[in-house]
Amino acid sequence: MSADRSDAIVLFGASGDLAKKMTFVSLYHLAERGLLDMPIVGVAFSDWSDDDLRQHAHDAIVAAGVDPDEKVWSAMASRMKFINGDYSGSGTYEAVAGAVEGCDRPLYYLEIPPSLFEMVVKGLHDAGLVAPEGVRVVVEKPFGHDLDSARKLYQSLSSMLRDDQLYRIDHYLGKNQVQNIMVWRFANRMFEPLWNREHVDCVQITMAESFDVSDRGSFYDRVGCLKDVVQNHIMQIVGLLAMDPPVSARPADLHMAQQEVFEAMRPVDPRDMVRGRYEGYLDVKGVEKDSDTETFVALRMFIDSWRWSGVPFFIRAGKALGATATEAVVILKRPPLDLFGADLHGGRAPTPNRIRFRLGHDDGVQACVQALDPTATEGMASTDVVISVDFDKALGRERLPYEQLLGDALDGNMTRFATQGIIEGTWTALASVVSEPPAVIDYAPGTMGPAEADRIVDGHEGWIQPVAGPSARPA
Ligand code: BG6
Repeated sequence: MSADRSDAIVLFGASGDLAKKMTFVSLYHLAERGLLDMPIVGVAFSDWSDDDLRQHAHDAIVAAGVDPDEKVWSAMASRMKFINGDYSGSGTYEAVAGAVEGCDRPLYYLEIPPSLFEMVVKGLHDAGLVAPEGVRVVVEKPFGHDLDSARKLYQSLSSMLRDDQLYRIDHYLGKNQVQNIMVWRFANRMFEPLWNREHVDCVQITMAESFDVSDRGSFYDRVGCLKDVVQNHIMQIVGLLAMDPPVSARPADLHMAQQEVFEAMRPVDPRDMVRGRYEGYLDVKGVEKDSDTETFVALRMFIDSWRWSGVPFFIRAGKALGATATEAVVILKRPPLDLFGADLHGGRAPTPNRIRFRLGHDDGVQACVQALDPTATEGMASTDVVISVDFDKALGRERLPYEQLLGDALDGNMTRFATQGIIEGTWTALASVVSEPPAVIDYAPGTMGPAEADRIVDGHEGWIQPVAGPSARPA
């Protein structure tokens, strides 16, 4: 734990959906680990008492499948306070000031619509609450809705906050299995020599969700798949998969190595993208009747660097698909000579080596390799076998992404947060497809998107099916 740890946490948007689904259970786990001995202040425009906040938090923790330990919970609950406030009124910030009186370094977590970020930071700023050294402000994604708005938002926030105070959340960066990509690459000797254009044929990232937009219609219809998950979650995965070795594991060095990936990324050509929409989307509550929003994206991108030149990164994400799985698969080139394959398999070449990172839902890493086929009747033929590590079994309980991120922010550790340079880099790479999106193509729910998406992977092995995950979103 760092010496300048935050000593209070203030949740703007405490009555919202994200707080209910993610925040309270994450705070409970921090409390359980002895890391949350501080006031917990909820702020929202809701007619709640302190006890209502406690009840709501308790219900949320139980709904997340946790049976709270009475001692941990009662200590946590005793430090909870609720402020009913309109974010535009100075009275709200005076009440916040009262609630954090005596705390030197509160952390303000803005789990509110991005359109309110500036208003709340200004309220905190004008009340003198962000001036002290060590005060942190954590903002939820999305950071802007295109390059221009991301820059404007930064200009505005940075007139009130220093860079070391602004923490931008992308919960994928809080997933240990996502950060593991970097550890896997740079803490082992055996993979990095292969990780380049000499050996890699292509990279595929799939984020498939079998559930649909459900009750999030009015949010989703303004955003769509590209901005909801590709510009942020998937691009962060690309950054970790493609970065050069950083000179150290200090946050600034890690961030710089990731940023360089986006600086080298060729702007995605709208012809290299297929947009899809599941049949029935237009009937979802909150969706405009003439909506042009996509619920599926497949695209091809290139990183014009010495390491990656000519290697396509194929990306596919969507809702109402045939599986729920997030995977990044690095597909190697075939060996130069096919000694044990095609001739003995009726002309069918063996599967190339693949390293599959399973990133959410049954996390782990798998490698598809060739081994001698004991059933071969003729010669020495090879067959596919899978080397697999299941992180649950090998590593035990992983921290929840928000438990990790809120714990890091309380500790003042920016490693797992997105920087302005990274965010601007991702928006820059996607600028053309954001401004000139191709037409949407319908697809049947339960499929893997429109058949047209197959042309994105032309010339390669085709889309690799994710290992089947649970059919519905976990609670
Ligand atoms: C969110 C998106 O950021 O990430 C959702 O808004 C998406 O649409 C979710 O379902 C996926 O997160 P996870 O952790 O369930 O893979």
